[in-house]
Amino acid sequence: MGFFNFGLQVVVLISYCSFVSFVVYGNKIRSNVIPSTLDGPFEPRTVPFDVSLRGNAVDLTDDDPRVRRRVKGFQPEQISVSLSATYDSVWISWITGEFQMSNHNKNITPLDPESVASVVRYGTLRNPLNHEAKGYSLVYSQLYPFEGLQNYTSGIIHHARLTGLKPDKLYYYRCGDPSIGALSDVYSFKTMPISSPKSYPKRIAVMGDLGLTYNTSTTISHVISNKPQLALLVGDVTYANLYLTNGTGCDCYSCSFPNSPIHETYQPRWDYWGRFMQPLVSKVPLMVVEGNHEIEKQVGNQTFVAYSSRFAFPAKESGSSSTFYYSFNAGGIHFVMLGAYIAYHKSSDQYRWLERDLANVDRFVTPWLVAVWHPPWYSSYNAHYREAECMMAAMEELLYSYAVDIVFNGHVHAYERSNRVYNYTLDPCGPVHIVVGDGGNREKMAVGHADEPGNCPDPATTPDQHIGGFCALNFTTGPAAGQFCWDRQPDYSAFRESSFGHGILEVKNQTWALWTWHRNQDSRSTVGDQIYIVRQPDKCPVRYKQTERWFASI
Ligand SMILES: [Fe+2]
Repeated sequence: MGFFNFGLQVVVLISYCSFVSFVVYGNKIRSNVIPSTLDGPFEPRTVPFDVSLRGNAVDLTDDDPRVRRRVKGFQPEQISVSLSATYDSVWISWITGEFQMSNHNKNITPLDPESVASVVRYGTLRNPLNHEAKGYSLVYSQLYPFEGLQNYTSGIIHHARLTGLKPDKLYYYRCGDPSIGALSDVYSFKTMPISSPKSYPKRIAVMGDLGLTYNTSTTISHVISNKPQLALLVGDVTYANLYLTNGTGCDCYSCSFPNSPIHETYQPRWDYWGRFMQPLVSKVPLMVVEGNHEIEKQVGNQTFVAYSSRFAFPAKESGSSSTFYYSFNAGGIHFVMLGAYIAYHKSSDQYRWLERDLANVDRFVTPWLVAVWHPPWYSSYNAHYREAECMMAAMEELLYSYAVDIVFNGHVHAYERSNRVYNYTLDPCGPVHIVVGDGGNREKMAVGHADEPGNCPDPATTPDQHIGGFCALNFTTGPAAGQFCWDRQPDYSAFRESSFGHGILEVKNQTWALWTWHRNQDSRSTVGDQIYIVRQPDKCPVRYKQTERWFASI
């Protein structure tokens, strides 16, 4: 008998389809059967922008108590948890010591990373914490060789990997350097369930383009109240690159600072962000993928230094040699995190890694396959419209051939959910693409659609220099044939709304997952968008190759 038991599917289908609930959509309450992708493809729907939201956001200031340094000496701060590739291991990260800033022509003596040990004591009991892990530490610099600019050198960043963990278990931990009396308070996290078609993390929060504004604050407090077991951040983290090195910020860097000799950043914003996020990410593992705001070019054309230094990634554990792409399992879900701002073409290291990674996914163990990267392939907003199409041209077929179920993106500061789609054609076996670049950063919300009169961008302006060249051509079939933009909401776009918010993914079993989008202006019981995403492995065969696996999944 095949793994995908037809009888079981029928039972599940009936039970969910008959699930009638009362759901608040925006300000309307109605008795509702939550739709599923089996009911699709859906007629495209746009919720008009509520102008009372204004669509902008204001950064938390340097003196906000949530971003100020609250520890002394080498006490740990900015504590976070992230997953390794499998349930039995996690990373703990933290920072000790203060960052330093200095005029460009004055040398900063960085803190010695070896001067403070990287130790985590952990266990399933709060006391005693009878396991110990030792990690490594580093310091990074953000240097600008230009008159009048400030250089930055970080505090000591520590990463330690805990191993031998049991699945779905609460662990307590303290991190720091016990030899100098600098151990943190006791924190806790829960490990992922074992990888199997029957076990999933209860709720996964999906956030994008967060920044550090009062709207970000609402997003994060709503995420916390939704009690996720795991959180994804789909790129664009702190928006430190909306600031000059002297701490002057703006909503649009190129508009406000057109003559700066290099795109500056104000690195203390990273420290502010790390402090602000600690209440969530010291308990809930956070998995991050890079966005364009993390590029942060500096001396020697170095990029992504803060991003790569501050977060821990299960790169080695998933066979990747890069912090820009990696994979991990969370219960019966395999996540692939991809990089849009490094090479992705078919002969690139990333593409070859992705081929290997997908070939090694055992859908009998992790039925769900979710791909995450920053700039969307399927978005109908005029901001960043068709910007990542070279990446799409290189990678879409590969992802489709392995039957990726869901794609999460950010970059566009709004919400959009696609119908199942592949190669711009509605396809019952294509992934659902979901854009959640609506975390609340200080750049403007995306409110315009490329299909509205006068909004279709000049194709020559659409490529992003950091993503690749120009690959977008006119549509060849359908109502938009011969055009660069549609003249109505595209058929691939099932639902779009401009609002800040976040999403929650609840995988119920090997074929059904509930996706809910929450808007910042709503109460917890109100949903902005909700749908069951249903896998149909019987109709959409998965390319499957049994090879030697590096995952010790079960
Ligand atoms: Fe972005």
